Amino acid sequence: MEYEHRTLDPHDDTAEGKAAVDAWMGAVSRGFHDGRPSESTLEIWRETAREDSLRLAGAWLPEGTFGAGPLPVATFSSWTKTLNAGAATVPLHMISDVTVSPAHRRRGLLRRMMVDDLAQATAPVAALTVSEASIYGRFGFGPATFRRRIEVDTTSSFALRDFVDPGRVELVEPADLWDTASDLFDRFHASSRGSVERPHFYRAWQTGRFDPATGGTDDKLRGAVHLDADERPDGYVLYKYAEGEGDKPATVTAELLTLDTSAHLGLWRFLADIDLSSRVAVRNSHPDDPLYWALVNSDVIGVRSVYDHLWVRVLDVPVALGARPWFTDDTVVLGVTDPLGHAEGAWRIEAVDGRAEVTATDDDADLTVTAETLGSLYLGGVRVESLASAGRLTGGREAVERLGRLMDGGPAPYSLTSF
Ligand SMILES: CC(C)(COP(=O)(O)OP(=O)(O)OC[C@H]1O[C@@H](n2cnc3c(N)ncnc32)[C@H](O)[C@@H]1OP(=O)(O)O)[C@@H](O)C(=O)NCCC(=O)NCCS
Repeated sequence: MEYEHRTLDPHDDTAEGKAAVDAWMGAVSRGFHDGRPSESTLEIWRETAREDSLRLAGAWLPEGTFGAGPLPVATFSSWTKTLNAGAATVPLHMISDVTVSPAHRRRGLLRRMMVDDLAQATAPVAALTVSEASIYGRFGFGPATFRRRIEVDTTSSFALRDFVDPGRVELVEPADLWDTASDLFDRFHASSRGSVERPHFYRAWQTGRFDPATGGTDDKLRGAVHLDADERPDGYVLYKYAEGEGDKPATVTAELLTLDTSAHLGLWRFLADIDLSSRVAVRNSHPDDPLYWALVNSDVIGVRSVYDHLWVRVLDVPVALGARPWFTDDTVVLGVTDPLGHAEGAWRIEAVDGRAEVTATDDDADLTVTAETLGSLYLGGVRVESLASAGRLTGGREAVERLGRLMDGGPAPYSLTSF
């Protein structure tokens, strides 16, 4: 079958342009088994596509073929935001909305869309989040940041060790919280290795204007801000209460953003104090959440899963590696194999005082990795030794140890941004 590959213009305000974007979004909903998008869902999507200048790619059946129509059989979107790479913030090529109709699987549609998309990307790094870990390694993406899904028992067993909150917590309506939340996010993004700038739709989500689960407004969403001793915001939480059902106790589901430990523990105490509930569930907890060490009884935390979040792909090796931190002074030649070509080559990394100059070289590599492995190493979320012991680096023992001293260190990368 000869598919028609096209991209749609999200800025096209004509009736046909809007209808084409709506049909494309209908195909995305179908691909992820969501309901047909409501008018308000389409409005938020169109707005996001315009504001973030999404590249909306798809494949359609040729006109006249049975089943041909406005809905594409494959979808793929991308746009550019920023990533905190640890030593500097770099442009990030973000990818989402990857679907292929079940009737057109395994015919190379994903491969074609991915290859075309990465070929026109201008950022030095690309990222996506995955529904299955088996799909994107072949395109040079490796799991790079991790999060934990936790459920915390907030009955009388919940107690913090000697924590005296220097500040306080105040409830704020989500619709009124946005300016404060955006400011806090900007500060978090600037200071958190692995953080990804938020897509435009966050505004609609976080203000309760839009609930992705229902397509309507989110009337149950509540917000609270933590203020420091000088009454300046230093963290916030958005949360929802759900009554218990059967064995499941009444639970508060929460998403926190905090700039320091006082704000974090202050908001946790606030969540634990919410009446008529005995659980707080958080799906994007930090891998080194200080809550664990701050509790009298850490058994109250049930870790439901530790999961990969951001999958990273290096497109421009010198720029990308130049923006990450280096933890000792040394020079190594790293070979990268990349079936798509972007990161292929031998790269001399000369690290001095925490930053590296990275240049292409004809010298032999001390160590060689695939683009996929480089993606996992990039943000420091996986140690060199862990990947070496799994056979993912080719080279001598001494070179592995030197690369480990160069690359391993600093805080675990962490992104709060879902996309
Ligand atoms: C995942 C999905 C996009 C694959 O699309 P596709 O057009 O069938 O993929 P392609 O034919 O281009 O295959 C590309 C490669 O990926 C492999 N592949 C595709 N789907 C795979 C899967 N689910 N698991 C493992 N490998 C897979 C193919 O074997 C092929 O390998 P090769 O090129 O090395 O031979 C499609 O199955 C889909 O829409 N799934 C539901 C939505 C979804 O999960 N989206 C991903 C969100 S992150």
